[in-house]
Amino acid sequence: MKKYFVAFMMIGLVLAVSPAWAKMSECEECHAKLSPELVKDFNRGVMSKTMTCKACHGSSHQGNDDVDKAKLPTIATCQMCHNEQAEQYLAGKHAKGLLAIEVLPFTHGQPQPYIAGQKGCNGCHTMGLVDAKSRDTEWRKYYKYGMDCQNCHTRHAFSKAEALEPEACMTCHEGFDHAQWEMYSSSKHGVAYLLNREAHRAPKCQDCHMPGGDHRVRTAVGFLGLDLTSQDPEMQKYQGIILKGLGVLDAEGNPTALMDVVKAGDLARLDAETFNAERKRITDTCRQCHSGNFVDQNMKNADAQLKEVNKVFAEAIEIVAGLRRDGYIKVKEGEGVYPQLLQFYEVDTEVEQILYEMFMDHRMKAFQATYHLNPDYATWYGYAKMKKDLVEIKELDHAMRASHPAKVES
Ligand code: HEC
Ligand code: HEC
Ligand code: HEC
Ligand code: HEC
Ligand code: HEC
Ligand code: HEC
Ligand code: HEC
Ligand code: HEC
Repeated sequence: MKKYFVAFMMIGLVLAVSPAWAKMSECEECHAKLSPELVKDFNRGVMSKTMTCKACHGSSHQGNDDVDKAKLPTIATCQMCHNEQAEQYLAGKHAKGLLAIEVLPFTHGQPQPYIAGQKGCNGCHTMGLVDAKSRDTEWRKYYKYGMDCQNCHTRHAFSKAEALEPEACMTCHEGFDHAQWEMYSSSKHGVAYLLNREAHRAPKCQDCHMPGGDHRVRTAVGFLGLDLTSQDPEMQKYQGIILKGLGVLDAEGNPTALMDVVKAGDLARLDAETFNAERKRITDTCRQCHSGNFVDQNMKNADAQLKEVNKVFAEAIEIVAGLRRDGYIKVKEGEGVYPQLLQFYEVDTEVEQILYEMFMDHRMKAFQATYHLNPDYATWYGYAKMKKDLVEIKELDHAMRASHPAKVES
């Protein structure tokens, strides 16, 4: 069956890319009247030289009455001709973007257009949707559009030059919990690059994260900023508390069901070999422009600051856990005493809201900026704000304990 399918697809492709068809593309003729700028955009790209609309949309839809039959491409469509890029892409973190929001218990209580209809989370997490039919969820009807490859090579020009500029990453890597664009563009690297793109004296996102055009993106510390391979006892202690806050470990330190979520979504590097390989991939790029000593010193300092950041965060988590343990905050059914950080903003008390902001806003900036060489973000939007959060959490802890001598009924 599969063989016949492949043969059929190949014949289809040959027909679709042959110049004879390109000249008489009825698709374009009609669509040039419907959405002329779309067709013009397609003709801007190199692919218009060798193929027609059919290469990606098939030929089942032929006119006004059968629009439902138009195929919308998936990664597999591009993979037929770009296997190398697609395989690299699928091996990296981007292809897990949709999975990450699907596996989180939190997202299942959120509005569907917000999670699945590109009006919230999956406006950026439109990733790894290989086959919409395989998704057995209420969300499916909102998932019609949105495929990965156009995230950096926007349709219908599908340009390589566009994807090579750092702005291609900006639409998603900005703002609240991942302000990499803001940090990078105002760092020495960003400024040196943006002031003189031609000279390319300083690196852009792609140089460090897609070296040699490798479509597999993945870093050592990742989104959660964890080094689970660290042998430093203090770092291990703080991280143990953070993992309890994330609900990945229970109060006794044993793995919970969420540990499987972390593994499935590749949310953290679990062994030293993987962690070190990712670290080396990035620092090899630095060495094209800096000495090994300079790079090592910089990374050592960034890692040391990550430990300081985790220390403040762990202290805050323990205070909130204490309030839950002692009954000042009601622990919901199925939850442990530790705060539920992966519930994001769906928490009931002010003190937990402050902890959420410390986690997603201030801690993220505090450590991400150390790796992206932005002392302003590392300090004033990061570490200093975490200290403020900690003071507020301590004050609320005192106030709650003083004003509710009797514990909350559970
Ligand atoms: C006679 C006119 C006509 C021809 C010929 C035609 N289309 Fe369409 N196509 C339409 C109309 C009408 C729509 C609905 C779009 C709209 O509302 O603007 C559409 C929509 C589409 C869509 C979007 C579907 C969606 O779900 O959003 C794609 C993709 C598409 N056409 C591709 C093609 C391809 C490929 C061909 C050639 C095999 C083709 N069209 C030929 C009229 C045409
Ligand atoms: C190289 C592959 C490719 C080719 C060739 C191609 N498209 Fe598309 N098209 C896409 C992708 C990718 C999407 C977005 C699908 C999604 O978001 O799920 C898309 C979406 C569309 C849509 C719906 C979205 C919108 O912006 O309205 C229309 C209509 C469409 N294409 C028409 C065309 C027409 C007409 C041609 C030929 C002139 C064409 N496409 C050629 C890849 C292609
Ligand atoms: C039928 C085969 C085929 C399909 C399907 C196909 N491509 Fe291409 N693509 C090509 C060819 C051929 C080139 C030109 C290669 C060259 O000139 O080096 C190309 C070039 C490109 C380039 C480089 C553009 C540039 O500015 O240099 C990008 C990016 C690209 N394709 C993305 C995609 C994406 C995304 C999809 C799926 C939506 C896709 N392609 C589907 C054959 C295909
Ligand atoms: C459409 C939105 C979008 C665009 C555009 C985008 N990314 Fe991402 N990126 C994400 C999301 C979402 C994740 C997290 C995916 C996951 O693992 O669940 C991510 C993850 C990453 C990671 C992995 C971090 C880790 O956990 O180790 C790197 C590195 C990365 N992106 C770099 C880039 C670069 C460089 C660009 C531009 C060339 C870019 N991204 C463009 C949305 C995007
Ligand atoms: C503006 C685009 C954008 C929106 C909106 C967005 N995210 Fe993300 N998300 C990203 C990017 C980019 C990353 C990777 C950042 C990094 O590694 O620093 C990411 C990372 C994640 C990760 C970690 C994935 C991993 O494996 O490391 C989770 C979980 C996540 N997002 C959940 C959500 C949820 C839930 C929502 C909606 C409440 C949401 N995101 C909304 C862009 C977005
Ligand atoms: C995170 C951004 C990003 C995403 C998503 C992305 N690309 Fe790319 N792509 C790039 C960059 C950057 C380059 C230029 C690489 C280089 O030459 O250094 C590129 C180059 C290409 C090229 C041209 C290769 C060459 O050397 O001429 C093709 C083809 C391509 N991508 C296909 C794809 C396909 C297929 C997908 C989806 C599976 C995809 N890209 C998704 C960023 C991206
Ligand atoms: C000079 C190289 C360099 C440049 C340029 C760069 N990064 Fe990074 N990035 C790093 C390093 C180093 C890390 C930490 C990786 C580690 O743990 O080894 C990192 C980590 C990340 C992460 C994981 C979470 C975090 O922030 O720690 C994402 C996502 C990311 N970068 C995206 C981007 C984006 C998007 C851009 C451009 C706006 C960019 N980076 C520019 C070097 C760079
Ligand atoms: C393409 C060349 C290039 C690459 C690759 C590169 N840098 Fe740089 N870097 C520069 C230039 C140019 C400057 C500006 C020099 C100055 O500050 O006078 C700079 C500045 C710096 C600074 C000083 C920042 C400041 O605020 O003064 C540090 C630290 C640094 N780089 C570390 C790194 C690290 C770590 C990596 C890899 C993750 C890296 N660089 C990759 C070119 C590069």
